[in-house]
This record gives sequence, structure tokens and C-alpha cells, in this order.
Amino acid sequence: MAKKMWAGRFEKATDETVNDYNSSLPFDSRMYAQDIEGSVAHSAMLARQGIISQEDADKIREGLLSIKADIESGKLTFDSDAEDIHMFIEEELTSRIGDAGKRLHTGRSRNDQVALDQRLYLVDEALDVIELLDELIETITDMAKEHLTTYMPGYTHLQRAQPITYAHYLTAYIEMFKRDRDRIEAAASRANISPLGSGALAGTTYPLDRESVAGELGMSGVTMCSLDGVADRDFAIEFASAISILMMHLSRMSEEIILYASQEFKFYELDDAYSTGSSMMPQKKNPDVAELTRGKTGRVYGDLISLLVIMKGLPLTYNKDMQEVQESLFDVIDTIKGVLPPFTGMMKTMTIRKDNMEAAALGGFTNATDLADYLVRKGIPFRETHEISGKLVHYCIENNTTLEKLSLDDFKKFSSLIEEDVYDAISLETCVNKRTLTGGPAPDTVKKYLDKE
Ligand code: ARG
Repeated sequence: MAKKMWAGRFEKATDETVNDYNSSLPFDSRMYAQDIEGSVAHSAMLARQGIISQEDADKIREGLLSIKADIESGKLTFDSDAEDIHMFIEEELTSRIGDAGKRLHTGRSRNDQVALDQRLYLVDEALDVIELLDELIETITDMAKEHLTTYMPGYTHLQRAQPITYAHYLTAYIEMFKRDRDRIEAAASRANISPLGSGALAGTTYPLDRESVAGELGMSGVTMCSLDGVADRDFAIEFASAISILMMHLSRMSEEIILYASQEFKFYELDDAYSTGSSMMPQKKNPDVAELTRGKTGRVYGDLISLLVIMKGLPLTYNKDMQEVQESLFDVIDTIKGVLPPFTGMMKTMTIRKDNMEAAALGGFTNATDLADYLVRKGIPFRETHEISGKLVHYCIENNTTLEKLSLDDFKKFSSLIEEDVYDAISLETCVNKRTLTGGPAPDTVKKYLDKE
């Protein structure tokens, strides 16, 4: 085993079980690019500030870039007993360039280094997630534009409530996903500041130029308290919360996909490429993508709770507990990046059964409110018209018919003020098209909204 970099004050070697227990290399190795990027910027600044020679900085830079290239070509693998990615790279650097490598860590601690790596990694990954989310938003926006006049029931309590359109339904999710996008962006921009210069906890006496390092790394500023710079992981928690909320939305939509693809609803037919069969029942076509999305929501919530609980009792500043933050954060990232592509593909390829949606909208007395509103326009107070409309619904149920199919004579038995114009007033088209207020289902209103998208 290689000698530990911190072996100076120790008399005994670390126990083998402790070595394995302590090592984060198996998971933090994924931050190698950010670790190298940070070290290149740090060493260049050390030279600019006259803390190390330009010659050493050049050697460090070349060495680090060759390590990066060798990792990416597969020439250099992570099968080492190094404690973490930071030690791994530094050890490798020193073995390649000698003494100059030992100067890299001047004015820096792994505590500010690991906080920097995680921030840089999170920002990179957030950009990927936003791109994937944009594809989903674009997909459902295109679908909505195709379905401005596809009528369907809107539900409350999963009972048919009032008619809407499929475009209007999708608009609800467009709004949710846009807020999710904003939250992810905000979390990433808050994460995008540099803790370098915080040292182990109390900063450093070297005349570092923190701002220039941050600028070189594309970060918007530096942390304002060295204790906070190494101690907090709220940026990871904030990102995980934003993704948890996104997963909550995806999960609700998934639940509806599962329902709507069932024989009971038949609003959706999933594409063969995005559904699965049963090993026993030949007739089955299962909505596994939606179900997995719903399931993975639980997993992401678990990660968020892990992060919150890992951090909740830690005294300032750095504690090794915080190493555990990484696996939960990485799992959030991997999970959402795994969820979005198949989810978007499933949406893009499924068949919308306009006929069944419309039949359902016609079937459930979703125009009963509009009938009551019609009678209000005839001068009857709403509380009374509500009652009349309710009685008419009851009459229809007893006679196995629907409101728009009743004869005018039937209508008149309930209110003499009902005239021929009632049929137009309670048609599906009127019920939807008249709801033109901002946010309402009227095709023109929804179109205006979608055109701005
Ligand atoms: N691998 C460590 C982590 O992820 C790096 C920081 C180590 N710092 C320390 N003081 N032991 O937290």
C-alpha cells in the first residue's frame, strides 16, 4: 500500500477494513474532470500570485491534462488504494512530474476542493437535465397544438367534472415542467460559486486570488465565509428538492398514463416500442415506462431525505459524514437522466384516442354546470339553477340518457324558462369554447398560450 499523504503524525498503518470503509474513490471518481479543472485553475493562479513558479504551474497543467486524457482513453484506471479522487489524481500527478506535483495543494484543502468539485459537477449535470426536460416540454407542446379541439372530461376526485380539451390538459403539465426548469436553473446558479480559498475551514495565509479562479471556472462569484464554504451542502439538497418536485409531476402524469392506457379508459394506446408484454398473459401490454417513473419518484425522494438527514446534526464545519452526500446526489442525477428520455419517447409515440376522450366528455354530465349557468342567464339565481340542473341529471340517470338528448318538453317539466337555445348552450363545443378567460380551455386561449411557447 502506498504511503498516506497524511501519514506524518501516525505510527500505525490504517486497518484494511477502515481503508475500504473510508474510500470514496469508487463513487467520487466520476468527478475526475471537475477535480482536474479546479486544480488547473488553482495552480495557474498560484503562479500568477508568485506562490509557485510558472514552470511548476506549466508542469502541473500538462501533467493534469495527460492524466485526464489517460482516464478518458482507458489507459489509466481507478483501481488504486487512494482514499478518494483528489488523492488519486495528486498521487498520479506527483508520480508523473515529481516535486512540482507536491506544490499543487498549496493553499488548498480537500475540504474546499471537494466542495468545489461537487458544485462544478452539479452545474454540468443540471445543464444536461435541463436539456432533457426541454425536449419533454417541446414534445408535449407539439402534442397540445395538435389537440386544441380534442374534447375530454376534466376530473376532480377522478369523477368526470367539466369538459376540457386534451391541449388544455397538457398545458397544465407544460406549466409544471416550466416551473421545474426554473427551479433547477436557480439551484444550479446558486451552486455556481467557488469555495476555493476556504482551505480546511479558516481560509489561508497565502495571497490567493479567489475571484480569478472562480472566473476561470465559469463561476459567478466566491463563497463569503470560509466556514460555510466547506461546511454546507445545501446546493445538493436544493437540487435534489427541485428534482423531487419534477419527479412528483412526472409521477402524477405517469399515474394518468397508466389509467388512460387501461381498457377502462382507453384514452391512450402506448406504442409497442414503449410498452412491455407479460411472460404469462398473451394479451397484456403494460405501461412499464410510466410505472417505473412512478416508482423512481420514491427513490429520488429517498435520496432527498438521505441528504437532509445526513446534514441535519453536523457541527460546523467539515465532517466525514458529508462524503455520504455524494452518492445520494449522484443517484438523483442518474435517476432523472434515466427517466426523462424514455418518458419523452413514450409521450411522443403514443396514440391519442380522440374518439374515446370525446365520448367520455359527452357521457358524464360534464355540461351540468353549464346548464345551471344557462338558467342563470334566464334570470334564476344560481343556487336554484344548481338544484334544477341536479334534478335533470337525476332524471337522465333514471332514464338512461344524457342532458343534450332530452326533448324540450322534458326540459320544460323542470323549468318553463328553458328554450330551444339550451342545446347550443350545453353542447361540448360551447362549454369549452366559452371559457376564454386566461388559463381556460377555449381553443383560442390555449392556442395563444402555446404560440408563445
Ligand atoms: N473524500 C472526501 C469527501 O468526499 C474529501 C474530503 C476529505 N476531507 C477530510 N478532511 N478528510 O468528503
